[in-house]
Amino acid sequence: MSVNELRFPRNFLWGVSTSAYQIEGALGEDGRGPSIWDTFCSESGRIANDDTAGTACDHYRRYPEDVALMATLGVDAYRFSIAWSRIQPNGRGAANPKGLDFYSRLVDELLAKGVDPTPTLFHWDLPQALQDAGGWFNRDTTDRFAEFARIVAERLGDRVSRWITHNETFEHTVLGHAIGTHAPGRQLGLDIFPVVHHLLLSHGKAVQVLRAALPAGSRIGIAQSMARTRPASGRIRDRWAAHLLEILHLRMHTDPLLLGRYPVELRLLGVDKSALLANDLATIAQPLDFLGVNFYNPQYVRGGPKGGVVPIEAAEPPAHLERTEMGWPVDADGFSELLLYLRKRYGARLPPILITENGAAFPDIVDAQGRIDDPRRIAYLQAHLQALRRAMDAGVDVRGYFVWSLLDNFEWAEGYRPRFGLVHVDYATQKRTPKASFDWYRHLIAVQR
Ligand code: NOJ
Repeated sequence: MSVNELRFPRNFLWGVSTSAYQIEGALGEDGRGPSIWDTFCSESGRIANDDTAGTACDHYRRYPEDVALMATLGVDAYRFSIAWSRIQPNGRGAANPKGLDFYSRLVDELLAKGVDPTPTLFHWDLPQALQDAGGWFNRDTTDRFAEFARIVAERLGDRVSRWITHNETFEHTVLGHAIGTHAPGRQLGLDIFPVVHHLLLSHGKAVQVLRAALPAGSRIGIAQSMARTRPASGRIRDRWAAHLLEILHLRMHTDPLLLGRYPVELRLLGVDKSALLANDLATIAQPLDFLGVNFYNPQYVRGGPKGGVVPIEAAEPPAHLERTEMGWPVDADGFSELLLYLRKRYGARLPPILITENGAAFPDIVDAQGRIDDPRRIAYLQAHLQALRRAMDAGVDVRGYFVWSLLDNFEWAEGYRPRFGLVHVDYATQKRTPKASFDWYRHLIAVQR
């Protein structure tokens, strides 16, 4: 199917996503305080090649150029995140005016170019001072987050109408606190319920604060990572592992939001839920205007050895599936399957969906003319949009799609090697070069009008 045949509703929202820590650089600028990612990156061996985000894409200074790229692309919306420690350097107390000014300038620049700003309030860069006080283990962090949300809403709410509280509570919990490959680098296995719960509770509190501070008609949601979990074989222990992962990944992080409860199966796993206090679930289950879904690939698992933390082990995907630079299998059917699963599981409680991230890293090569031809990224995006279209045809209410990412950027523990951008970044010169996929996406958006 060609781009010209791939049709979406006229008012469908087309966008691109980034996050603060991955692109901004300027970590010591204008009063920004340290975040847990600064600390993590300063510890040798944590990040591939010991890369750091000190400069990243230098977006803090080059944002007008990046917004101009978005205007050329023709996107309706831009999803970015707000670095908490630029706004409150220690995560609490008075706002830092220079930090707020930066995002205010960015919002104005976007609006001037006809791009809708869509900020995410937390994309993993917790102020270090809050981590020192216990981070997401400390219930007080939920109130700090609500306070931060209020400060940002009061400054930007007159111009920003679409808000996202958190990004991927599962990844932040598991990578950051269970296995320790992300900041803050803790390795607590299954003892992470307080982190999940406080992230979700802080979401609920932030939604309440945003509703009170924002003009009527503002839309609020959360972006969760989601995958279909697939057993490596039909054996019962592999199927059980896939079921458990579905509970720990998807349902533990989304049932409380949409159904107001945690999966009962957590009890079987011996999860200690003593951090859950009376009325918390009601606070978490605030009505949402949209559910953000980040999708990359299905996850293959097998039953793990007895005596492990959970009897789940990552399994190799089937050999016939293409892999991205991250090693992730390319399987767009998993995307439509997931969307249909969400509709079935949550029924009338499922708000309209926005695909807040989808994309792929491939080893891009700059040719002698300086061009980057990236047919594999185009094929990935096209296949996933076709899968999305199929799910919509089957009745799933999806209102928009954001590509991860506008720019190549700092891919967390993987450093700069994986390139997810529609725009290539030469990190030595900061030169931006749109890839072939950029033109492909531009054309796709243009034919929808
Ligand atoms: C999810 C995260 O939100 C984003 O920060 C990351 O770069 C992409 N996935 C790709 O791994």
